[in-house]
Amino acid sequence: MIRKKGQVVRLETPNTTLVIKADKAEYLYYGKKLTSAGGFEAFYDSPRKIFSQFGGCDYTEYSVLLENADGGFSTAFEYSKSKILTEKPEIAGLPSSYGEGKTLELKYIDPSTKVCLYLYYTVFEDSDVIAVSSRIVNNSKKEIFVRRLSSLQMDLMGEYAFVTFEGMWGRERQKISRNVGKGVFYNDSKKGMTSHERNPFVMAEGKEGVFGFNLVYSGNHKELFECDGYGRARVLTGINDFMFRWKLLPGEEFAAPEAVVCFAPDEDALSCRMHAFVSEHIIRGKWKKRERPVLINNWEGTYFDFNEEKILNIARAAKKAGVELFVLDDGWFGKRDNDLCALGDWFDNVEKTGGGLKNLADKIRALGLDFGIWVEPEMISEDSDLYRSHPNFAMKIPGREPTRMRNQLMLNMADEKVQNYVVRVISDVISRCGASYVKWDFNRSMSDCYGKGIAQGEYFHRYMLGYYRVVGKITKKFPFVLFEGCAGGGGRFDLGNLCYFQQYWTSDDTDARERVKIQDGTSYAYPQVTMGSHVSACPNHQTGNSNPLETRFNVACGGVLGYELDMSKFSEEEIGVVAEQVAFYKQNRKLLQFGEYHRLGDAFDSALGGYMAVSKDRSQAIAVVAVNARVIGVAEPTVLFKGLLPSAVYEVTSRKQSNYEKDISFTAGGDMLMNGGYMLRGIFDDKEASANSGCIYTRMFMIKKCKN
Ligand code: GLA
Repeated sequence: MIRKKGQVVRLETPNTTLVIKADKAEYLYYGKKLTSAGGFEAFYDSPRKIFSQFGGCDYTEYSVLLENADGGFSTAFEYSKSKILTEKPEIAGLPSSYGEGKTLELKYIDPSTKVCLYLYYTVFEDSDVIAVSSRIVNNSKKEIFVRRLSSLQMDLMGEYAFVTFEGMWGRERQKISRNVGKGVFYNDSKKGMTSHERNPFVMAEGKEGVFGFNLVYSGNHKELFECDGYGRARVLTGINDFMFRWKLLPGEEFAAPEAVVCFAPDEDALSCRMHAFVSEHIIRGKWKKRERPVLINNWEGTYFDFNEEKILNIARAAKKAGVELFVLDDGWFGKRDNDLCALGDWFDNVEKTGGGLKNLADKIRALGLDFGIWVEPEMISEDSDLYRSHPNFAMKIPGREPTRMRNQLMLNMADEKVQNYVVRVISDVISRCGASYVKWDFNRSMSDCYGKGIAQGEYFHRYMLGYYRVVGKITKKFPFVLFEGCAGGGGRFDLGNLCYFQQYWTSDDTDARERVKIQDGTSYAYPQVTMGSHVSACPNHQTGNSNPLETRFNVACGGVLGYELDMSKFSEEEIGVVAEQVAFYKQNRKLLQFGEYHRLGDAFDSALGGYMAVSKDRSQAIAVVAVNARVIGVAEPTVLFKGLLPSAVYEVTSRKQSNYEKDISFTAGGDMLMNGGYMLRGIFDDKEASANSGCIYTRMFMIKKCKN
């Protein structure tokens, strides 16, 4: 709800309140819901600003920096007017949240140039999230340049921990918390993608609770956190101003991507709210609320080395185990037998596919599986027919040797001709094999940013606008297809992509031990139904660790379950185990994929990690506990379950695991399970560690309400 009284605007969600003084561009309050109807006069003249600019006496990091026609950087935006819109405005060319109309529009004008700054605040009541965006309109008579336009500025007062989700390829979104006293910190990407290294989701944790910030964008981003000498903690989120310089001719405008902010009393509540927001207002289309199929992907099973027979054998074994979708990964096109060539040649490798993609897809469908396909549309290999015929499609700086990553170059997606070409060829791939699932990969970051006629300072963002145009067109053309994004694992896992792709490949590291952490970090901002999560071979191809099949399954159930190995090599017994797993998963998939998600323990800091999914009415839950290592002479860890009804009594049973003889079964009160917890004593098998290297110990519990 948005209410305006004079210049004071109150934005309310069920659990939070944001109060803005529009004419002074001040935040008067943001945090836990205010229930009183009291006034705010005593709080006027707040140091907490909704935007900041160079040219006054505020020297904390600026949210807006313009290069004026006279070459100077000073602006002096003054209040013009505010409106409550009934329709949330679209952000031209960019993805944004949907499903809520009422939006506060605030307008400020720089009197000496007539340039206008607009800020927008939309309230999402069902998730306590507020979406914020900003726009610069050049109403002057001369050209100007936007050098920085943050999507959101939030000024807080006090001491905060600045929490980021950082990593590398294969180790994405590891939670890092810094107690920030004073100073300037930032979290960013300059790679032309959100990156494996630093996700745009950040948190500020203070005494009053946790503030979470995310960005609906997939390119270069920057989250600035400055604690100034005055005791003010300023958070800015938006497009990275690195190399950024956007020309605005008279009458033109520039829209920053949408940011989202949420306040909650603790991390657990914050991620529940973020999940509700993403599920309801970011994910779109036919798959929004649909249970996702259990898939088998051949990548780690075959890599590039496959033929029709191998693929069909894997598909047959998977079908026997109850798998529903076969995904043919890299290697099915052109002369793609390794990663040195053929990207861009999206025509069938007839030999490897046994007569063509359609042929193979039909045979897989005849086995009773759906068919999905891998593509990497934004890339080009120099050894490809596409490069030989259209070398100018590649992103390269004339006269310079380009940087190759994974031996490949990128396409210049900032060029409309290239965009149209990609839409055409990728649409053709999807239609010709009748895919019901597409994995859209992106396996390198940008380096040789160049497009003829495109200013360098605009390149990164123009690429993103081109990319969104392409994925927007393709996903609209195939509304029944389930899209999974991928970027060498989870390098572009962000809200921008989730506006088009209903799920994302979380990481190329499929080791259960590592995945507990990666999925845990990812779950702070993104719901489990968006996280692709596979059971892969043992020993694990990335780490060499060995974990029992049941452990790999327990961990993979924390996202959307898939298998990624050569199942045709499984024994009858192993197929039997997988069949039981898949049957169990299907029976409980709604709860696992869409239940309220809670993290258990602390995957990064303690001996215990894991997760739990709870049904809406709290009558059912599934929990997985993951113990990193067993230590002798120290009490076993205790798990505190979450999200249950305190006064209800629950029956807790362990899922029957093929590697455990002992089953667990007991009843306990919800409050006891959540506050006292359950000590994980005697529930693991001592043989496990000796049989497996680098293993973790996991068990899955089913929790059912048996008494109110
Ligand atoms: C990336 C993906 C993998 C796989 C390979 C294929 O690394 O993350 O899952 O698709 O590309 O080349």
